[in-house]
Amino acid sequence: MHQANSKTIRIFDTTLRDGEQTPGVSFTVEAKVEIAKALERLGVDAIEAGFPIVSEGELEAVRKINRLGLSSEIYALSRVNKKDIDALISCDVAHAHLFIATSDLHLKYKLKISREDALDSAISGVEYAKAHGIKVEFSAEDATRTDRDFLLRVYQSVEEAGAERLNIPDTVGTATPEKFADLISHLRSNLHVPLSVHCHNDYGLAVANSIAGVVAGADQAHVTINGLGERAGNTSLEEFVMAASRLYDFKVKINTKLLYDTSRLVSKLSRVLLQPNKAIVGENAFSHESGIHTHGVLNMPATYEPMSPELVGAKRRIQAGKHAGAHGINSQLKALGLDPSPEELKRIVQKVKEIGDQGKPVTDADLDSIARDIMGLEKRQSYFRITDLAVITGINTVPTASVRLSFGNEDTQTRAEIGVGPVDAVLKAIQQITDRFARISLREYRIEAVSGGTDAEAQVMVKVEDDRGNVCSASAVGQDIVMASVSAMMNGINEIMLRRLERIDQPKIEAESLNRHM
Ligand code: KIV
Ligand code: ZN
Repeated sequence: MHQANSKTIRIFDTTLRDGEQTPGVSFTVEAKVEIAKALERLGVDAIEAGFPIVSEGELEAVRKINRLGLSSEIYALSRVNKKDIDALISCDVAHAHLFIATSDLHLKYKLKISREDALDSAISGVEYAKAHGIKVEFSAEDATRTDRDFLLRVYQSVEEAGAERLNIPDTVGTATPEKFADLISHLRSNLHVPLSVHCHNDYGLAVANSIAGVVAGADQAHVTINGLGERAGNTSLEEFVMAASRLYDFKVKINTKLLYDTSRLVSKLSRVLLQPNKAIVGENAFSHESGIHTHGVLNMPATYEPMSPELVGAKRRIQAGKHAGAHGINSQLKALGLDPSPEELKRIVQKVKEIGDQGKPVTDADLDSIARDIMGLEKRQSYFRITDLAVITGINTVPTASVRLSFGNEDTQTRAEIGVGPVDAVLKAIQQITDRFARISLREYRIEAVSGGTDAEAQVMVKVEDDRGNVCSASAVGQDIVMASVSAMMNGINEIMLRRLERIDQPKIEAESLNRHM
């Protein structure tokens, strides 16, 4: 259902503040700077760079980001007391996000103050920041569980004290779209400055609540890349942006083609892996395995894709597996430069289904070798081969790997690298050598124990991609996780090298229109 909304919604990104409050996540100053630059490229209106009072490093990060001169507005978070606000002022930021809790629950058990005390502190905090020339966005923390009349009184008072924007946080994600919309409409009709919404995902409703909030009159949404944030996280930027713009016709200034890469960057720097079925940016968001779906997508992508993957910087993938059909497998084989007869194709599909029935995945490299086997073709020679490999790891030792690869006419090259662990070190050393031939990067790495015990077999699955957009999945099984990782990586790299040498491109499905098909 479409609604006509020509309004522009501002995107306030809080990946570097609320996103960093994800349990176990802590960005270095350099990582924060890198993410801030990526957010600016993405086109966010505001970046909440951090909470300066938290630590020296945090203060330094906010200062540094502020000095970058980015086109996005830079905010810092602060409670309403002078000490916090002074720390924020010392960062030279022009914008403050001030907050104090207002629900009786928080006042009684956390702050141990009365409603009147909270109101006075809110007003004096806003006045203090304003007196220092800072623009203020004010949040009544736990707004959705705050007494409505008191909440309105707080917002009206801080508006009078000079707050330029009022944020309505659903701090523990207990709002529903209907209740949140009602609250926002009520506040909208009694307040004058722009409103913002800040939703948490405890019941999986953060995006729905944020959308309900902007439909009800808010002008800005607080979001994080990959939905990072406290507990179950915040509203995901990529999901909110795509739903608000495509399903509700709001305008947002985001360059959506950068969503996938920005998501990967944040996943890498936060060390929070994305679930494969994450909407918009998950690995499976544009992957198709079942025969019915691949058949449809190969004829007309819109049959099973609500948007084009290119629109968010992602790629479509057809995946072999037990649900696959002949159309999908054949298109994958074409991409591998193979042209099986109808009878051979039938046998290849049969084999893929048998492997799937055993609960095993079928990677691109597996499909290539199954098909060659059935078609009676010679196995392709690997372009790169490992000739020597040594890995050192331990206590008080930086994990280090040295690798010698042979290639082409038996030329060899050796590289040593350090890493955060032995697998990281060895994969980096391999890439150092292969980079000279093709810039092949590791897109995905997964490891699973196939059996129990210390002698368990591990299965490593990798997905690699080169600078021409060739993507290849490969796997290897072994008891030694370093060697299994090396084999999987080499399988993937070799598959890509062979595609390049044979000049086979990834399957190109007919360019589709970017129109919606709903
Ligand atoms: O969720 C929340 O209430 C917050 C506040 C700091 C606005 O993150
Ligand atoms: Zn929050």
